[in-house]
Amino acid sequence: MKGAFRALELNNLTIGHRPLGLRELWYIEQTPCDIFFSREGILTRLAEKNNPLTNQNIREWGDSSISRVFIKMEDYPKIIERQKENLRNHTRSISIGEPVEIGRKQAILLTICLKYFYEDTNNDELLTLLYQSVKSYSTFLINNIGVHHQIYNDYSKLKFHYIYSQPLLSSLFLIGILKHARIYTEKEMETAFITSYFKDVGMSAISVEKYDLRVLSPTDKKMLHEHALNSVSILANRIPLNNSQIKIIEGHHIFSTLTRELENFELNVDDGLNVYGAETLFISITDIIAAMINDRPYRNATSLFQSLDLIKELLIVQFPQEFKLIVSYFKTYFTKGQS
Ligand SMILES: [Fe+2]
Repeated sequence: MKGAFRALELNNLTIGHRPLGLRELWYIEQTPCDIFFSREGILTRLAEKNNPLTNQNIREWGDSSISRVFIKMEDYPKIIERQKENLRNHTRSISIGEPVEIGRKQAILLTICLKYFYEDTNNDELLTLLYQSVKSYSTFLINNIGVHHQIYNDYSKLKFHYIYSQPLLSSLFLIGILKHARIYTEKEMETAFITSYFKDVGMSAISVEKYDLRVLSPTDKKMLHEHALNSVSILANRIPLNNSQIKIIEGHHIFSTLTRELENFELNVDDGLNVYGAETLFISITDIIAAMINDRPYRNATSLFQSLDLIKELLIVQFPQEFKLIVSYFKTYFTKGQS
């Protein structure tokens, strides 16, 4: 009983406060509110409102075993506003400065703001900001292909929850492959990048904690299964997406579904790929590779080699040229550190 009473007592101490991952404070520069941490269940002030806050401060907190902080519940909108402002300003000046730092910062701010969008998918202002920022980021990435590898490495180390980081990682690979193919126009690459980045916003229908579970309830499973359709209903008529993009989002799991059927060797590729082009294939395949080579709470990452082995089974018969291109891209990407 003593233990249960203590747990209840500790819980009471954080009531009225909201936990935040340290990553969410990156680039804040000045604390918009008091920030606390929990020391044996007692909330202790870590930083006072209106004080300078650097990424180095945040790293030092992490080094001293602080994995999350707390803010008062009513202060959360101040953090959101600050990060939206950061993303807006950074997007405006994305062509100025050192490419690795610019690319890394845009990746981090996009991810933080995507989390806010998952928490509030009716927010038109936030969706428009994300759309404009993703669009500018695609131009940046097309023009700075040599820094993709460094951005990937730095960003992966931050270990954002995978439902927020997966769109960025898979879309980063996507634009690298399209550029590597040397046959796509800048506009085509931009369109594919935007489609890829937003294709999973329907995953917001389930709370983030549930994605850490190995087994979902039948209702959650159904919601997850329908996430592509849910993405379309969230996005349609709110950001500029053409009919092909909508169809690609609807069908982006064509190959992931096939991975589950591989044991039966029922490789039955939908005609959709022929209609909407190889970009659809690359969007789906980069999604699978980015997922496989990164850890999940319920499984470890596989090697790039293992993931390419699976992709080979999916593509080699009907799409040998596309498979060769993918292998060639990743070989260069992970051996030379540039695409
Ligand atoms: Fe998806």
